[in-house]
Amino acid sequence: MPRSIIAGVGMYVPENIFTNEDMTKYMDTSDAWIQERTGIKERRFADRTKETTTTMGVEAAKMAIDRAGITPQDIDFIIFATLSPDYYFPGCGVLVQRAMKMKEVGALDVRNQCSGFVYALSVGDQFIRSGTYKNILVIGSEKHSFVLDFNTRSRNISVIFGDGAGAVVLQPTEEENRGIISSHLHSDGTEAEILALYNPGSHANYWKEGLADYEDAELGELYENQAMVDKLQNFPIMDGPAVFKKAAVKFPEVIMEALNKNGYKTSDLSLLIPHQANMRISQFVQQKLHLRDDQVFNNIQKYGNTTAASVPLALCEAWQEGRIKEGDLICLAAFGSGFTWASTLLKW
Ligand code: UT7
Repeated sequence: MPRSIIAGVGMYVPENIFTNEDMTKYMDTSDAWIQERTGIKERRFADRTKETTTTMGVEAAKMAIDRAGITPQDIDFIIFATLSPDYYFPGCGVLVQRAMKMKEVGALDVRNQCSGFVYALSVGDQFIRSGTYKNILVIGSEKHSFVLDFNTRSRNISVIFGDGAGAVVLQPTEEENRGIISSHLHSDGTEAEILALYNPGSHANYWKEGLADYEDAELGELYENQAMVDKLQNFPIMDGPAVFKKAAVKFPEVIMEALNKNGYKTSDLSLLIPHQANMRISQFVQQKLHLRDDQVFNNIQKYGNTTAASVPLALCEAWQEGRIKEGDLICLAAFGSGFTWASTLLKW
């Protein structure tokens, strides 16, 4: 059975750097607070009129396709992970197909937030292993800046997110001891609403938030109404400490699951590339697993939390910096809204 290798990796971040100091113009926060609690120094924000989740994904894809030594016409399946799609529907996958003038290949969108890319990679891996496809494009991209509430009331969430994209091309190999070894996917929806963006949505949770007019609302008003806007239901919400606590348990667990399943120890790991949620979470995981500094990659300082883009962005930068070499044992791991969490173990 063939295994999947990452034949090319690419990234794109907008030119516009938005520093913590810039954030203080919009809300009561400080560079010191943001750096101390998250490790973030700055993030990138897309050009509001020119860049979208898809256009950034396309730029990252071009780089990955080029590095794989193929052309967009060689791609035979697209998987696009994002929580900030250009449109509510259709998804970004078809927009990539159109923008890159690809053949009429399948395009699948994955909505798993922070673990979206790791989930997407595992789906691509199955199609490679089954021999169905030869060149799969997997993209993670986010344009968070358009939906954040730049106001003190939402400062706990708005300071952590940034825009950007990462992409890989998966190809089959018959070489033993190379490529994706295993993926481990999990979810627990018990606390689905503590890190969420409710609207637009078909949920019937309006009463939970005390929207007085829910019972009497006309059909169309349930989709979008003034009370929703007043109660900030058109912005993402997060119980940060609760997410932090769960992440601190599930990150180490899912990394160890991948290592144990394949008979490896933490000392065998060449590089852990965690989803860039918060520097303090990464440091906690590193300490808990007794990993050296050179075994963990972080770039949250520069880009903030880019959700589905964060793992491929970090993977791409790690590769560009020479931190990944042939034969290295790499673990990708993510945790986020849902909750969903996942890991992938691979030999480069
Ligand atoms: O991507 C995956 C999903 N997301 C995550 O993994 C995020 C996980 N959680 C976190 O990263 C952290 O919980 C945050 C960075 C979001 C928040 O840090 P925290 O240390 O958990 O702070 P907190 O929410 O407990 O708030 C502590 C204090 C509060 O003030 P009081 O009540 O103690 O006076 C907040 O109002 O910090 C205040 N605060 C801020 N102050 C300045 C919250 N956000 C800010 C801010 N600037 N941006």
